[in-house]
Amino acid sequence: MHSLSSTFRGGLALLAALLFSMTGAAHAATSTDAIMLPQARFATGDNVAWRDPDFDDSGWKVINTTQYYEAQGYDGYDGYSWYRIHVTIPSTLKASSDWPERLRIYLSAIDDTDESYFNGVRIGKTGSMPSDPQGYESRWETPRDYAVDLRAGVVRWDRDNVIAVRVYDGGGGGGFYKDMPYLAIPQRVDGLLFDADLAHHHFLANGRVQTTLNVRNRYPVVQRGVLHVEVRDLVTGRVLLTRQRALVIAPEKSVSSQWTFPARPGIQASYRFVDARSGRVATATHDLPYRLTPPDAPTPTLHGARLLGARPGTPLYYRIAATGRAPLHFEAQGLPEGLTLNADSGVIMGTTPAAGSYPVQLRVRNALGNATREWTLVAGEQLALTPPMGWNSWNAYGLNVSDTLVRKAAQVFIDKGLAAKGWNAINIDDGWEAAARRTDGAIMSNARFPDMKALGDFLHERGLRFGIYSSPGATTCGGYLGSLGHELQDAASYASWGVDYLKYDLCSYSAKMSKSPSLEEHQKPYRLMGQALRNQARSIVFSLCQYGEQQVWTWGASVGGSAWRMTGDIVDNWNSLLETGFSQAPYTGFVAPGRWNDPDMLVLGQVGWGDALHPSRLTPDEQYSHISLWSLLAAPLLLGNDLPSLDEFTLGLLTNHDVIAINQDALGKAAQRVLNRDGWQVWVKDLEGGAKAVGVFNMGASLRSTQVESSLFGRERRFRLRDAWRQQDMGARSDSIAATVPAHGVMLFVVQ
Ligand code: GLA
Repeated sequence: MHSLSSTFRGGLALLAALLFSMTGAAHAATSTDAIMLPQARFATGDNVAWRDPDFDDSGWKVINTTQYYEAQGYDGYDGYSWYRIHVTIPSTLKASSDWPERLRIYLSAIDDTDESYFNGVRIGKTGSMPSDPQGYESRWETPRDYAVDLRAGVVRWDRDNVIAVRVYDGGGGGGFYKDMPYLAIPQRVDGLLFDADLAHHHFLANGRVQTTLNVRNRYPVVQRGVLHVEVRDLVTGRVLLTRQRALVIAPEKSVSSQWTFPARPGIQASYRFVDARSGRVATATHDLPYRLTPPDAPTPTLHGARLLGARPGTPLYYRIAATGRAPLHFEAQGLPEGLTLNADSGVIMGTTPAAGSYPVQLRVRNALGNATREWTLVAGEQLALTPPMGWNSWNAYGLNVSDTLVRKAAQVFIDKGLAAKGWNAINIDDGWEAAARRTDGAIMSNARFPDMKALGDFLHERGLRFGIYSSPGATTCGGYLGSLGHELQDAASYASWGVDYLKYDLCSYSAKMSKSPSLEEHQKPYRLMGQALRNQARSIVFSLCQYGEQQVWTWGASVGGSAWRMTGDIVDNWNSLLETGFSQAPYTGFVAPGRWNDPDMLVLGQVGWGDALHPSRLTPDEQYSHISLWSLLAAPLLLGNDLPSLDEFTLGLLTNHDVIAINQDALGKAAQRVLNRDGWQVWVKDLEGGAKAVGVFNMGASLRSTQVESSLFGRERRFRLRDAWRQQDMGARSDSIAATVPAHGVMLFVVQ
C-alpha cells in the first residue's frame, strides 16, 4: 500500500507513457493503430466468475481508467475489486502490423496489485494479494504491459472481448489511475530495446568513456536489419562518429557493441535500426555519461559536516571523514572527556558530554603531510544539525531487505570511500519486522534479520549510525507490523538494539483518522512516538513520513521531528524529480538546522524497489541535477541504490566533496529559487561565511546556453567563481555567469 495520498499519486496520472522513452525503447504503435480503453465496468468485491467473458456485467457501473475509483464514487474503498473492459477488435487491425502474432495489452499502472485476464485467459499478474501464499506486496507504480499470442485463437475478431482485471488495493488511491490503457498489434521492431547499460561503462585515462550498447530483442522472432549509430557533440554541433552495422538478433536475445566517446557534457548517441523486411525503424537517443568529480588528492584532506548534535549522556559514534593515501592517522585535540578516538580508523566513540559546545581540532596525517579542521560537537537536545546523510534500503531492495544486504551496504560505504566523504548512516526501511509480536508484545525482527543488536554493533564499530522504520498504524505500507498501541515498547526495543534514527511512515494510520482529520488528530501519533524516542537514553533522529500532509514543514519539529517527507514516493524519472525536488520552492524558507524538508531518497545508481535492479532511468544530466538540487535544498541525502554494484559514474556523483559541502553547510539554509523562466531555473543557497551556492538548471529538452545575472545571487561587485562539480576555481567575474547546460542538466557554482 504505497498509495497513501491520492492527491500526490493522482498527479502521476499526468505523466503519460514515458516508460518507453525512458529506457530508450522503440515506441509502440500507440497512436494510429492503437485501440484506446478509456472506460471499464467496475464492481467492488471478489468473485472468480467475474473473469468469464460472458458474465453479465450490464448492471455494473462504468468508470474511467485514468482516475482512481475513489474519485468516481468509491471514496475510501480498500480491498478487492474488478474492472471489466469491453472492446471490439476489428480483424483489419492485423493488417497494421508487419508481425501480426501478438496483441499487446497495455494496462498502464494499477494501484496496488492486479491479476488480469483476456477472454478468461490469464495474461499477467503484478504484485501479490493478501490471499497469495507470500502475502500482500504492492506494485502500484509498475507498468502492466501484458500480451496475448494471436496464434492461440483467444481473440474474438470483430466481436466483443473482455479484459477482466482483479485488483487489490491496500489503502489510499486504488485501481487504474495513470495514463490510458490500450491494445495494439506491435510491429516487429517494437520488440527492440536500446539499452545504454549505464552500469557497464568505464572511464578511460584519456578523457574518454567506454560504454556498452545492448540491443535487446524482447519478441520471439528474429530481428534482421541495419543499425545506424551517430554520435554528436551537442556543444559544437559536430558529428563525432557514424557507424553502420548489419544485425541479426535471435528471438529474445540481445547483441552488444562497445563504443568509446569523449566523456564530457553534451555528447549524445542516436541509434536507428531499419528492419530489413519491412523498412520500419526503431530509434533511440542516449545522453552519454561523463564524470566531473576529480580524483581525490593523495595528500590528507578532511571532509564532512563541521557540526554534530547529540544529547548529553547518550552514546556517540562518529567517523571522521577524510581522504588521502592510506594509511591515514587521526588525532582529535579538545575531545571532551568520555569520548575516545581510534587513531587508525578515525572513529570517535563514547558518551556525549554535558550540554554545551565543544570545538575539537581534527587532524589527519599520512606519509605526504597532514591537514587540520575544526569540528564542533554540540551537546544538547537538537539533533541532525546538518541534513542526515546515508543509505536506505527501500529504493533498491523494497521488502526484500536483509541483514546481509545491509551489512554489505555498510561495507561499501567504507571500502569505496563514501564514509570518507561523510556518508554515515545505514537505514533499514520496511520489511524487517516479524509477522507477530512476542507474547509480551515486543516487536521482533523476521528471519532475514537474525540479530538486530548485533547489526547495530556492527554499524557502530565502523562509526556508522543505525536507522530503522515503522508506522504509527497497525501495519506498515508494505503490510508488515506497525507500532500502533506499542509505541513506547517499540521505542525501547529500538533503543536496546542501538537504533539512531527512526523513519515513521503514516501508512495504515490514515484509516484510523477521520476523513478530514484535524491537525491535532494528525499530529497525535507523531507526538506520541517523538516523546517515546526522547525517553530513550539515545540520540534518536525522528524522521516523519506522511507525504507533506497538513503542512508538516510548519510543525514537524514541534512533535520531535528533525526531517519530514514533503511528497509521495520518488521514482527514477524526470517527472518524479519535478514533483519531489523541483516542487520545493515555496517551502524552502522553513528549512533550518534540525528542520529538514525531505523530498525523498535519491534514485541514482542501481535501483529496483525489490524487483530486478536496473540502472536509474534518469539520464546522466538528470542525475547531476538530482544530487545538485538535493544539495541546494539542504535535503536529507539518502542513497537508495544497491551499493555492491556501484559504478564509476554513480560513485563520481556521490563523492564530490564540494557538492556535499553545499548540502552539509553549517548554516543549514535551503536554496531559494530566484529564477524560473524560459525553461531555466536558478536556485541560490546561502552558505556559512557569506558564500553562495548557485545552481543553474536547464529544464528544457535540448542543450542551451544562458547568462545568469549576478544580481540574482546578490553580488554587485566582482565575485570569485568556483565550479563545484569540477572543483575548479574560475577566477573573478563582475556581472554574470555564462552557462551551457545539456537538457535537464545543471551547472553548480559557489560564489564568494
Ligand atoms: C511508503 C514510503 C516509502 C517506503 C515504503 C515502505 O511508500 O513513502 O518511502 O518507506 O512506504 O513500505
